[in-house]
Amino acid sequence: MHLVIINASPRVEAKSNTARIIRTFIRGFEEGGNTTEVWHLSDKKQWTGAKEAYEKNKDILFAIPLYVENVPGIMLEFLETLQPKKESGTKLSFLLQGGFAEASQLRCGEAYLELLPSYFNCEYNGTLIKGDNFAPAWVPEDLAEKMVAPYEKMGRLFAEKGTFSKEEVNEFAGPEYFPEKEIRKYNRTGKKIQKLLFRYMAKKNGCKRPLDDRPYQVE
Ligand SMILES: Cc1cc2nc3c(=O)[nH]c(=O)nc-3n(C[C@H](O)[C@H](O)[C@H](O)COP(=O)(O)O)c2cc1C
Repeated sequence: MHLVIINASPRVEAKSNTARIIRTFIRGFEEGGNTTEVWHLSDKKQWTGAKEAYEKNKDILFAIPLYVENVPGIMLEFLETLQPKKESGTKLSFLLQGGFAEASQLRCGEAYLELLPSYFNCEYNGTLIKGDNFAPAWVPEDLAEKMVAPYEKMGRLFAEKGTFSKEEVNEFAGPEYFPEKEIRKYNRTGKKIQKLLFRYMAKKNGCKRPLDDRPYQVE
């Protein structure tokens, strides 16, 4: 199978978690001789190529980061340049990933993606969802690679089955909601550690004001 993969992140390829996930997914997917081509929507120069690839091919995977509970605006803008396929038989698959860890975060996006292919006279071929993907962009390279490593197996499975099955997706997606016990534990300790981590990252990014700064608040 030849799979066209379109990275719908607005972040440049070098900084995009989705790009890293795609690279890992491809390792598993290409093991048995499959081939891929990848287009990054963050680079406007690639839009013509991505559009032509959509027109010429029948297996297309959109890899999408969750931006404010759904697909990023740049993807919607790209979709507006596409025409519905004249002939049926094109399968659209989706890999949707986000920062927050509970799978429930991604269900609204998943529901949108289930409807999307019909607007393009295409078939819906499943959505792989997973959260807990804030960190790869911030941590050292080897740790980032470990974090996204499970996507290799999902690439292999997608190659074997030609689709994302609901059962495997739900298992991969992790907990739908955290149990209350976990939330209480997080509120006691995790929250403090996270605050320190955010402060450290803000400083590293050149932030000179406190994170709870409200410069526009009227006293
Ligand atoms: C503007 C913005 C909005 C985001 N909104 C969400 C969100 O609603 N839910 C979520 O789980 N993650 C959210 N995230 C986190 C991203 O989905 C996550 O970091 C993802 O791995 C980014 O992939 P990318 O680097 O390829 O863009 C958001 C990130 C940004 C920058």
